Amino acid sequence: MAGEPVNVNEFQELARKVLPKMYYDFFAGGAEDEYTLKENIEAFHRITIQPRILVDVSRIDMSTVILGHKTSAPIILAPSAAHQLAHPEGEVATAGGAAACNVIMGLSFMSTCTVEEVASSCNAVRFFQIYVFKRRDVTEFMVRRAESNGFRAIILTADTPRLGRREADIKNKMISFRLRNFEGLISTDVVSDKGSNLAAYAEEILDPSLCWKDIAWLKSITKLPILIKGVLNGEDAMKAIEAGVVGIIVSNHGARQLDYSPATISVLEEVVQAVQGKVPVLLDGGIRRGTDIFKALALGAKAVMIGRPVIYGLAAKGESGVKQVIEMLKNELELTMALAGCCTVDDITRSHVKTEKERFLC
Ligand code: FNR
Repeated sequence: MAGEPVNVNEFQELARKVLPKMYYDFFAGGAEDEYTLKENIEAFHRITIQPRILVDVSRIDMSTVILGHKTSAPIILAPSAAHQLAHPEGEVATAGGAAACNVIMGLSFMSTCTVEEVASSCNAVRFFQIYVFKRRDVTEFMVRRAESNGFRAIILTADTPRLGRREADIKNKMISFRLRNFEGLISTDVVSDKGSNLAAYAEEILDPSLCWKDIAWLKSITKLPILIKGVLNGEDAMKAIEAGVVGIIVSNHGARQLDYSPATISVLEEVVQAVQGKVPVLLDGGIRRGTDIFKALALGAKAVMIGRPVIYGLAAKGESGVKQVIEMLKNELELTMALAGCCTVDDITRSHVKTEKERFLC
C-alpha cells in the first residue's frame, strides 16, 4: 500500500506493519477455525443495496439519537480490551477520537487506562462495558466507579462465561496485559499452564454461573440503564426485554468466542422482529464500510458498533488514526445514503436492501 490509507482495510495493513505479531494477532484474530470471523464480513458482501433515484440528496443528515444521546452518526465504538498494546496512549486516545467525531465511546472492563483516566480526559458520551466476576464485589465496585465518573450506561457482555479458544494467542504465548482498573482488587497474576495465559486467567476470574436472574442483581446495584451484548436470536432477545434491559446488542464478540456462531448481520432481522421496537437494537461484527452500516440500519439496527477498525486506527496513528477511521466510515455512509436516495437515517428502510435469499427468489 502506497500513501495514506483510503479505507479501513488499509488501516488494518498499517496496523499489521507497526504492531508486534503477538499483539496484531491478538487484535485481529478470532476463535478456532475463524469461520465466524470470515462470515461476519462475508455475510455483508451477500447483501445488495437497492438505490432509489431522483431523490433530492443535496443535504444528508446522518445524526441520530441513541438512548437519549444525540450523535453525529449511528456509530458507537465497541468496547475492546487493552488499547495500550496498540498505542501507549491507549483508551484515552480512543476516547479522544470518539469525542472529536461526536460518537459514543464504549469502554471495556479490560481497559488498560483506568475508568478515571478516560473519564477525566474526554467529553464523549461514554458507556461502560462490564463482565461479571466470581468476585461480584469487584464488578459492583467497577459499576459504581463508572457511575461516579459520568458513564451513561452499562453494557453487560453476556457471551463470555469462559474465553473462546483463540489459537493465535495460544501459539504466540500471548502474555496478559496490566488490568489497571483492578489493581489492588484482585490478583493480576498470570497463570500459564492451561494454554493461553489469557484464557486461563479469564477462567479464574469470570463467573460462569451468570444467568438471566442476575440482571435483577445488576439492576439492584445501579441506576444506569443496562444494555445486553451478545444476543444472537429472537428467543434471547425476548428474555432480555423481560429482564428489563434498555438496549440489545447483536454481537458474537467479533468472532472471538464461539466459532460457527452466525454472522451477526444474518440474525439481525430475527432479533429486530422479536424485539418489536420495544428497545433499540445495535449490531457489531464485521463493519468495515459505510455500506455495511447502511445495510445494518436497513435491516433494523438503530446503530452499529465498531471494534477492530478503531484499534487499527489507534495502532497506526494514535488518536488521529481513531478519528480518521471514524471519519472514513462516516464519509462512506454519507455517500452511500446519497447514492441510495436516503437523506436521513430514518429514510433507510428494509426495502433498500436485498438478502441473498430474496435475490434468489426473484
Ligand atoms: C473485543 N471485544 C470485547 N467485547 C467486550 O464486551 N469486552 C471486551 O473486553 C472486548 N475485548 C475485545 C478485544 C479485542 C481485541 C477485540 C477485537 C474485540 C468485542 C467487541 O466489543 C466487538 O464485539 C467486536 O470487536 C466487533 O467486531 P469487529 O468490529 O471487531 O469486527
